[in-house]
Amino acid sequence: MIDDHKNNDKEVDELSGVETTGHEWDGLKELNNPLPRWWLWIFYVTIIWSVWYWVVYPAWPTLGGATQGTGNYTQFNELADSQRDIIARQKVYLDKFETASFDEVLADPALYSFAMAGGASAFKDNCATCHGSGASGSKGYPNLNDDDWIWGGTLPDIQDSIRYGIRANHIDTRISDMPAFGRDELLTGEEIESVVAYVLSLSGGEKPADYEHGATIFQDQCAACHGEDGRGGQELGAPNLADKIWLYGGDEHSVYESVFNARAGVMPSWEGRLDANTIKQLSVYLHQLGGGEVEAEAGQEVDVPVREDPVAVVEEVEDNVSEELRRTTSGE
Ligand code: HEC
Ligand code: HEC
Repeated sequence: MIDDHKNNDKEVDELSGVETTGHEWDGLKELNNPLPRWWLWIFYVTIIWSVWYWVVYPAWPTLGGATQGTGNYTQFNELADSQRDIIARQKVYLDKFETASFDEVLADPALYSFAMAGGASAFKDNCATCHGSGASGSKGYPNLNDDDWIWGGTLPDIQDSIRYGIRANHIDTRISDMPAFGRDELLTGEEIESVVAYVLSLSGGEKPADYEHGATIFQDQCAACHGEDGRGGQELGAPNLADKIWLYGGDEHSVYESVFNARAGVMPSWEGRLDANTIKQLSVYLHQLGGGEVEAEAGQEVDVPVREDPVAVVEEVEDNVSEELRRTTSGE
């Protein structure tokens, strides 16, 4: 009886001579063909491979993350590896750059390019908000592209301005406060008008009727900081008033406002926020960009190569860097 039943199940298809599975749909019967051998092997291999994968790689989610895998692989590790690689390649320059003097940096094309590229990118990230992306400044924020420097344009001067800031929250900050001559009633409105007219005449403005009166006030009240000739003083951060470059505007109204209320612009200190190498790179970058001044000691000839076109140098460096990146990513 049992045998009979079994024989009924294992019905053999007449046409193909193959057993059926006993499943039938509207007269169509399913043949019990064996699976192709090649297919079966691939199937077994994938099972074995998946078991291996579970063991070696992070695979199963757990409450605290995922199983770690014995291979110790994570994408974080992979990223850290590639960063280590980049840092190792930078280190070749950084080690030299860190100890090199400014003169050595300017004289060595590789270090110079390294400084310019690093400075340009640090400038975009940290300084462009105030000084403009081309470093050309705006009202109250000095243009760093020209050779008119309020606090000095030698490399060490620029580095100090960046490191310690100006009227900033740093113990060594550059500081100098012009009195608010009007607000604090040091001069009358009429005296301020006279001295303003005198100041404007220094940079080619019309000579006012009360020139002498203005000149006297200037010598008494202003010359200590701005110099007898009005050409300014970098030790005190007092701008040159005899050129046509104005930080706060050179029309009569703006100059009156500068004298009446004083201005006292604030430049943040970057020490502690940027590392020493970045500040050094920025100094070289701005020095080149701004027609930097050369530090001359008495009786000494200074020969510092100031490159013709710093912007072209930066572009060239950026091209080289992308070429380098292309080569490393394509494994050449
Ligand atoms: C919050 C706005 C602000 C930011 C950000 C800023 N600066 Fe300044 N910076 C100023 C102001 C304002 C002055 C002018 C201060 C004064 O009145 O003497 C100045 C002055 C300077 C000077 C001196 C210029 C001279 O003629 O002597 C240098 C150099 C300078 N900045 C570089 C930088 C660099 C490099 C960065 C980025 C790391 C930067 N600044 C970021 C506002 C800023
Ligand atoms: C204690 C030093 C000091 C004295 C004295 C002083 N100044 Fe100034 N003056 C400065 C400093 C520093 C600045 C720059 C302020 C800033 O950068 O925010 C300045 C800025 C100015 C400016 C703005 C320049 C610009 O480029 O926009 C004018 C104008 C000016 N002073 C005129 C005068 C006149 C006129 C007197 C005399 C009545 C005078 N100052 C006295 C230190 C001084």
